[in-house]
Amino acid sequence: MRIVSGIQPTGNLHLGNYLGAIRNWVRMQDETAGECFFFLADLHAISDYQEPTAFARGIREMAAALIACGVDPDRATLFRQSKVAAHAELQWLLNGTARVGWLNRMTQFKDKSGKNREGASVALYTYPVLQAADVLLYQATHVPVGEDQKQHLELARDIATKFNTDYQVELFTLPEPIIPPAAARIMSLRDGSAKMSKSDPSDMSRVNLTDDADTIAAKVRKAKTDPEPLPETAEGLAERPEARNLVGIYAALAGVTVADVLGRFAGQGFGAFKPALADLMVETLGPIGVRLRALAADPAELDRLMDKGAERAAIAAAPTLAGAYSALGL
Ligand code: TYM
Repeated sequence: MRIVSGIQPTGNLHLGNYLGAIRNWVRMQDETAGECFFFLADLHAISDYQEPTAFARGIREMAAALIACGVDPDRATLFRQSKVAAHAELQWLLNGTARVGWLNRMTQFKDKSGKNREGASVALYTYPVLQAADVLLYQATHVPVGEDQKQHLELARDIATKFNTDYQVELFTLPEPIIPPAAARIMSLRDGSAKMSKSDPSDMSRVNLTDDADTIAAKVRKAKTDPEPLPETAEGLAERPEARNLVGIYAALAGVTVADVLGRFAGQGFGAFKPALADLMVETLGPIGVRLRALAADPAELDRLMDKGAERAAIAAAPTLAGAYSALGL
């Protein structure tokens, strides 16, 4: 098993990232025999303008957040994507294989570019090809991600298959997405139809791993809900996106099923449920926040750890990159 995944180091790590992806990174690192490669997708982040000073600080903070969540730089290879040149090189080689029609179907590009398609960066458009390079470079078998990245991984499989076929090689392994069923898509606290996201202008829409206990409690208290009590069964949540989201978050944090949560809270209103959810969040995220602040206080050590990871990643990436050049006749 080769486990590979990345996260954009912009903004704070939030509950959606944690429950949708990072918790699975740590589980796979701790519980499988597979080799793990986790990286900060800083080259992906420049598909949007980043103010350089804040960006540099954000990259270190994200490294601290991942380690605080349990990513162990001794057991997993943790690095910055931009420090391993093979990512950008392989992307260019794969640009010859990826089709414009495939990229035109990517829903994330459509969502992010919105009505301003002509004004979107070229990097935002070719972003999924870099993501394919990220995983194919390490012969990834398993890629732990949230639901929103599934389409990008299907594209990576399509690119790998076409490259292997066109050049008659067995170079690239087809990666499988690993998506947690319970927390595949954590929604905004303000709108049950929008995913929790770093780019939402309202900080009240997400819980950040850096939030203190009072902030978490206030965000849960103000989370959008409806006036009905909680139902007996999960089907009763079908038309109630905000209620479904909060119950789902509770279940994911407690490591129980939605039915278990409803077994305890059915018939009760949000006046009872919200404080219990806030307590559970503070209990789970509080210790991560404490570790994160301690790690962020030593940027030189974070740089050292990331650079060590990049050296290891570059060595692991070299054979596949060489194989791609050779298959192309270069
Ligand atoms: P990013 O930085 O947007 O998110 C990092 C991870 O968090 C997951 N996630 C969520 N899961 C559940 N609910 C949510 N509301 C939520 N929001 C985010 C994402 O699915 C992701 O797993 N393109 C990627 C980064 C990337 C990557 C890769 C991932 C670059 N190269 C190679 C895997 C493999 C991204 O922007 O994720």
